Amino acid sequence: MVEGTLGQLAYRGYSIEDLAIRSSFLETAYLLIWGDLPNAEALGTFSEEVKSHRRIKFRIRDMMKCFPESGHPMDALQASAAALGLFYSRRALDDPTYIRAAAIRLLAKIPTMVAAFQLIRKGHDPIQPRDDLSYAANFLYMLTEQEPDPLAARIFDACLILHAEHSLNASTFSALVTASTLTDPYAVVASAVGTLAGPLHGGANEDVLDMLDTIGSVENVGPYLDRCMAEKKRIMGFGHRVYKVKDPRAAILQSLAEQLFDRFGSDASYDLARVVEEQAADRFGARGIYPNVDFYSGLVYRKLGIPQDLFTPIFAIARVAGWLAHWKEQLGANRIFRPSQVYVGHRLRPWQPIEARP
Ligand code: ACO
Repeated sequence: MVEGTLGQLAYRGYSIEDLAIRSSFLETAYLLIWGDLPNAEALGTFSEEVKSHRRIKFRIRDMMKCFPESGHPMDALQASAAALGLFYSRRALDDPTYIRAAAIRLLAKIPTMVAAFQLIRKGHDPIQPRDDLSYAANFLYMLTEQEPDPLAARIFDACLILHAEHSLNASTFSALVTASTLTDPYAVVASAVGTLAGPLHGGANEDVLDMLDTIGSVENVGPYLDRCMAEKKRIMGFGHRVYKVKDPRAAILQSLAEQLFDRFGSDASYDLARVVEEQAADRFGARGIYPNVDFYSGLVYRKLGIPQDLFTPIFAIARVAGWLAHWKEQLGANRIFRPSQVYVGHRLRPWQPIEARP
């Protein structure tokens, strides 16, 4: 449930504030996909199942080794997610056991694929997941080859919760359209990953840091924002189709960022971001343009030592939960999407031989 004018977000009736503080990403994923919070036994079984599927086939790792190191990790993720369909080709969309297995496989393997591409492009061999680490801690471990600080892992887990679901955004819509053809869930996720990659959607969190670097100092904030207004240029990490107040996820991310900076040292870009938020409110607030989820997430990820072009793949790791929830729901009452189009082109006209064309 998203209440854009009140700045409220809840997953299946539970507020995002409660979930970010009290839940874990896997528990939230279970809630989204199966509709209710799991009891301790169900959560334990689910977590163990996800853990047991974290490894990826060596052929997928070998395939990733053929990708160009300069390629964007979102493209690598889209190709790898689609490749899962080659390995798990059975498709039984009316079988709840199949749906559960596919959901678990995707939740388990997407982080491993993101981390594997990161190590491969650095010239390292991907490392195996560690069963003694939580979902979030294991991902950070596979990415950095170091066991993360518990606070860093907890904050990263909260970031995954905040990005797990957001009703019918562009990538979820893309997932639904693909799902409605009754293709396999790997194609559904691959299609959604491609949609999430764009700078007007998940890709904005990368651009926020570039924008802060371009602004450079507090004195430049006002002139930069004035230029944006005059040239109708967008402030990255601002504005939302649904929220006309500050995105509640941005407020939570800001407090997570502050916890990280208190513990691991401050970041000058955060001070700049706060000034951008303050000064943008005077100029854009009346039009309902406020920070969205992407505004502070990049600062958190950078402090966690995550490279900038992995911010969107991390968004994808989290949003897989929401895509799968919508996929499952779509299968329950499916009809193929076939929007009609308002055609404004030519009506029938006589064929023109090539030599007669202008
Ligand atoms: N900075 C400046 N002006 C903006 C911004 C912004 N970030 N966002 C919207 N506007 C202005 C537009 O220029 C437009 O002005 P106009 O009416 O004078 O032409 C007006 O607000 C409406 O803009 P639309 O593009 O119609 O709004 P829409 O709801 O379609 O856009 C979007 C939403 C795409 C998120 C937009 O706000 C944007 O481009 N933001 C920057 C990119 C970004 O941060 N994306 C992440 C979104 S959150 C997510 O996907 C996870």
